[in-house]
Amino acid sequence: MNLSDIAQTRYSTKEFDATKKIPAALFEQIKQLLRFSPSSVNSQPWHFVIAETDAAKKRMSAGTQESFIFNEPKVLNASHVILLCAKTEIDEAYMAHLLAQEEADGRFPDPAFKTTVAQGRARFVNMHRYVFKDVQHWMEKQVYLNMGTILLGAGALGVDAVPIEGMDPQALNAEFGLIEKGYTAVALVALGYRKESDFNARLPKSRLPEEEIFTLLD
Ligand SMILES: Cc1cc2nc3c(=O)[nH]c(=O)nc-3n(C[C@H](O)[C@H](O)[C@H](O)COP(=O)(O)O)c2cc1C
Repeated sequence: MNLSDIAQTRYSTKEFDATKKIPAALFEQIKQLLRFSPSSVNSQPWHFVIAETDAAKKRMSAGTQESFIFNEPKVLNASHVILLCAKTEIDEAYMAHLLAQEEADGRFPDPAFKTTVAQGRARFVNMHRYVFKDVQHWMEKQVYLNMGTILLGAGALGVDAVPIEGMDPQALNAEFGLIEKGYTAVALVALGYRKESDFNARLPKSRLPEEEIFTLLD
């Protein structure tokens, strides 16, 4: 399958087959997609809580109660559920931590480049801190790249998935003590295999026409 086919055959799974599990080696690839997802100035302002056992998925369903109850069966019946979280702060200690990781990974064969990278990152972080005043929103935007990356990746691996914004971040923050750890819940992604009866698997995709969404410059 080429990428266009994958984009058109992956779909948001509304009903998972609770008896089917993603093989460990495949899920390992999905974890690597999360880890290697790009982020502005390599800020990686994220953390992922993963539920695989029934008990863990039950805990995850703390986020899909009351008005979000329509999403609960997806969380309980998927093979794996990932809670995508964003950092709640990007401080100097974390920026030094990123730089140290880049150095350990061999990103600075020219030592002067380390200063350039540190200054470039500080420039963007400060822009979002002091000019746009949207640093939290900016970090959460990075986390949505993880979501996009794993949705396409899961499709390529033959794994079904649904992204879930219909959930209560505060309930999940409380369930996993996330705020105390410096993170906040952003969204869920449930992964597994569709049930035969999933109505959404049989519906055609609907997207706005190409001429409406693309501008081709001469
Ligand atoms: C950020 C985001 C949040 C979503 N939240 C939910 C959700 O809470 N429950 C659900 O069933 N589908 C959810 N969806 C699925 C969308 O409705 C779906 O992606 C869209 O209709 C396009 O269909 P497709 O994914 O099958 O191509 C969400 C999708 C995105 C990207």
